[in-house]
Amino acid sequence: MKRLVTYYSRTGTTKRIGEEIATSLGADLDEILDQKSRKGIIGWLRAGRDSQTYKMTEIKVQKNPNDYDMIIIGTPIWANNLTPPVRTYLTQYSFKGKKVAFFTTQGGDEPIDALAEMKERVAESEIIATLSIKQNFVKTNNYEARLSSFLEHLR
Ligand SMILES: Cc1cc2nc3c(=O)[nH]c(=O)nc-3n(C[C@H](O)[C@H](O)[C@H](O)COP(=O)(O)O)c2cc1C
Repeated sequence: MKRLVTYYSRTGTTKRIGEEIATSLGADLDEILDQKSRKGIIGWLRAGRDSQTYKMTEIKVQKNPNDYDMIIIGTPIWANNLTPPVRTYLTQYSFKGKKVAFFTTQGGDEPIDALAEMKERVAESEIIATLSIKQNFVKTNNYEARLSSFLEHLR
């Protein structure tokens, strides 16, 4: 089974979890690069607005998900939503017939609406697991139990 872990990350939290998942599974790793700047206060404001209004963006990736059997996709949560780069990724590629898992990092509780949108966008794939970790738990290294149980579904 060929596995790809791919993520978008603005400040490194989701990237850290993505890297750990890829290392644990021996999976390939890719980063979704947003061609729109999200830096500074203007970028931050635009990030929240673009997420809330279900905007797409222009992205660049190194690895094509079509080449994999299982794709594990990570996003931060912005304005209770998934980020525009990950929304674009889920729209731009077909995940039909593939195994898909999602992980999120966020400041608050489980992002129910964002997870629902992600699942809807890959309705023709087999969703095998989801994982949501609070940013604070990542910072304080308090997520290993949740991560381990997520990984069990992906092996
Ligand atoms: C523009 C913006 C909006 C955000 N909105 C939310 C939110 O609605 N709910 C939440 O729990 N966290 C929210 N966050 C916090 C991020 O989801 C959290 O910091 C995440 O772990 C960052 O991931 P990253 O370091 O990979 O970019 C927001 C962050 C940004 C930049």
